[in-house]
Amino acid sequence: MTAAGASATAALAGGTTAMSAAANAELTPRDFTAIAAIMQSDARIALSEAKMTLVQSRLARRLREHGLSRFSEYVQLVERDKEERGRMVVALTTNHTHFFREPHHFDHLRETLMPLLREKVSQRKPVRIWSAGSSSGEEVYTIAMCLLGADRASASWLRNADVKLLATDISPPVVEAVRRAWYPENAVQAIPEAYRSAWMRPADGGFVMADEARAMVTARVLNLFESWPLKAQYDAIFCRNVMIYFADDAKEELEQRFVDQLAPEGFLYIGHSERMIGPASLRMRSCGHTIYRKGE
Ligand SMILES: C[S@@+](CC[C@H](N)C(=O)[O-])C[C@H]1O[C@@H](n2cnc3c(N)ncnc32)[C@H](O)[C@@H]1O
Repeated sequence: MTAAGASATAALAGGTTAMSAAANAELTPRDFTAIAAIMQSDARIALSEAKMTLVQSRLARRLREHGLSRFSEYVQLVERDKEERGRMVVALTTNHTHFFREPHHFDHLRETLMPLLREKVSQRKPVRIWSAGSSSGEEVYTIAMCLLGADRASASWLRNADVKLLATDISPPVVEAVRRAWYPENAVQAIPEAYRSAWMRPADGGFVMADEARAMVTARVLNLFESWPLKAQYDAIFCRNVMIYFADDAKEELEQRFVDQLAPEGFLYIGHSERMIGPASLRMRSCGHTIYRKGE
C-alpha cells in the first residue's frame, strides 16, 4: 500500500471511529434535561423522557460533524454557540407532512371557504391564507392547487386577484424546500391526477410546482413564539400537527394569537389529533372536525 493509501485508510478508520463513537454516545438524563430545556425555551417544544432515544439518534449526526463522542460536550457546545443551538433545534423538529393530508380540510376549503374567497375577490378585496408550521410546503401547495382548481381554466378567477399564501416554519431547510417547490415522485403520488397534471411539471427526476402556484406563495422562517411581522388579517390559518409538540400553556398562547390574527369569520384548521383547549376557543365556533370559525 502506498503512503497516501495508508494515510487515507487511517483517516477513514479514524472517521469510522468518530462516526460510531457519535452513534454510540450515551445520552444521560442530565444531558437530556439540558437539551429539553433548550427546546422548551427556544421553540416551546416539550420533550418528554419517552423521546430520549429519538433525541439520541437525531443528534448523533450533529456530534459526528463536530467530532464529539459525548453528549455532555455537545451540550456545552450548544450552550455557547448560537448557530449550533439553532441547528440542534432544527434537527429535533419533526417535519413529516404530505400533499392533501387530512383531506376533509381541503373539501371544506373548496366547498365552504372558496365561495367566500371568490366573493371577496369579486369585490377586489385581498385574500390571505397562512400555513403556520408549513414544513416543506406540501400543505401550502395543496391549498394553492385547491384554489387554482382541477384544470387550468378553473384558475381564471385568480387572474389579477390579490390572493397571497404565507408558509412559515422555524426550520430554514424546510422553508428553502417551500421556495424550491420541487418534490420527488413518491411525494407527488398523493396528489389527485387532475391537479397534478394541471399544476406540476416533471423536473430533475421529480416534479416542480407550476409558476401560478409558486407566485401565490411566500415562504419565511418564523418561530411561532417570536413576534409575527404580519400586517394582514387572515381568512384562514392552517396550523396542523404543530401544536401537538407544545405544552398546554404554549398551545393556549398560540391559540389566542391565531384568533387575534384571523379576520372576522376566518377559519382555523388544526391537526386531526388536536383541539382548541384555551379561552380563545370561546371566540371561535366549531364547524367540522378540527375546523373552527371566528365569531361566537
Ligand atoms: C409535523 S410538521 C407539520 C407540517 C404540516 N403542517 C402538516 O400538517 O403536514 C410540524 C412543523 O412544525 C414546525 N415547528 C415546530 N415548532 C415550531 C415553532 N416553534 N415555530 C414554527 N414552526 C415550528 C416544525 O419545524 C415542522 O416543520
